[in-house]
Amino acid sequence: MRVVSGIQPTGNLHLGNYLGAIRNWVKMQDDIAASGEEGSECLFFLADLHAISMPHDPAELKAGTLEMVAALVACGIDPNKSVLFNQAQVPAHTELQWLLTGTARMGWLNRMTQFKDKSGKNREGASIALFSYPVLQAADVLLYQATHVPVGDDQKQHLELARDIAQKFNNDFCEEDTPVFTLPEPYIPPQAARIMSLRDGSAKMSKSDPSEMSRINLSDDADMIMKKVKKAKSDADALPSEKAGLEGRPEALNLVTIYAAITGESVQTVLGEFGGEGFGKFKPALGEVLAETLAPISARFRDLKSDRESLDAILARGAAKARERGADTLDNAYKALGFVRG
Ligand code: TYM
Repeated sequence: MRVVSGIQPTGNLHLGNYLGAIRNWVKMQDDIAASGEEGSECLFFLADLHAISMPHDPAELKAGTLEMVAALVACGIDPNKSVLFNQAQVPAHTELQWLLTGTARMGWLNRMTQFKDKSGKNREGASIALFSYPVLQAADVLLYQATHVPVGDDQKQHLELARDIAQKFNNDFCEEDTPVFTLPEPYIPPQAARIMSLRDGSAKMSKSDPSEMSRINLSDDADMIMKKVKKAKSDADALPSEKAGLEGRPEALNLVTIYAAITGESVQTVLGEFGGEGFGKFKPALGEVLAETLAPISARFRDLKSDRESLDAILARGAAKARERGADTLDNAYKALGFVRG
């Protein structure tokens, strides 16, 4: 098993990132470590190169990268069990991206919903990086022969593209029995794959939402968490006893989903407990389980984030390992394309 995944170091780590992705990263890391299986490994990275696809502030990128390392370690990513690094220290990501741009098709990229969403009405003014972003994402996972890629639902399309690119490259340039790339499988959690904004049940919880009240950050303290939950959009009806009763009530569904994901219960079990109750009772209970679960994470985060030396050391060590892990695949990709390499 080769588990590979990344997160952009822009803004705070929020509850959507945690429940949709990071919690599964930690679980896969710990399962692999416990299995002791030779050759199985996790690589997790900060997708700092992806961050320049949108207007950005260099000082914020630098601070955000270090904070995100602290946040991931606080969540349970252990640099002694997983390879933890940032893309910018591993040039093979951008090298492989270029090699793959010969294989990726304009039509494939034109279909990417993230590009459509983020460029909006200003397509002509969007950066080339925003358009070619999914090719870099393909390089990120193909470079390491990823077998499993734990992500939230919004990254599914990008991973399907990575598979298409790998398949076409293998078909076009490799012998059948010696493909250069492994086709990666997305791992999308059955629950919490798409946590929605606290202000709008039809928009996903996101770092780029201008409203801080739309998301719970892993650095929020208990008072702030309770405030955000109490102010979360809901409706005037009581919670139903059956899941079907949440249909057409996106905000209610989202809050119940969060409760279920945090406590490890099913949505049906949560409704068994709270069915018939209004939000006046449910919201404080939700605020409490959230604050309880996130308190140790935010305490660790506060301790770690000011230790610049340790954070730099974690990234340097991770990058050295990542460079080594990716070297053969990059070399094989160059060779398959006919490049002369000493
Ligand atoms: P990013 O930084 O937007 O998000 C990091 C991870 O969090 C998940 N996520 C969510 N899950 C559930 N509900 C939400 N509201 C929510 N918001 C975010 C994302 O699905 C993701 O798993 N392009 C990627 C980073 C990336 C990457 C990669 C991921 C770059 N290269 C290679 C996997 C493999 C991104 O911007 O994720």
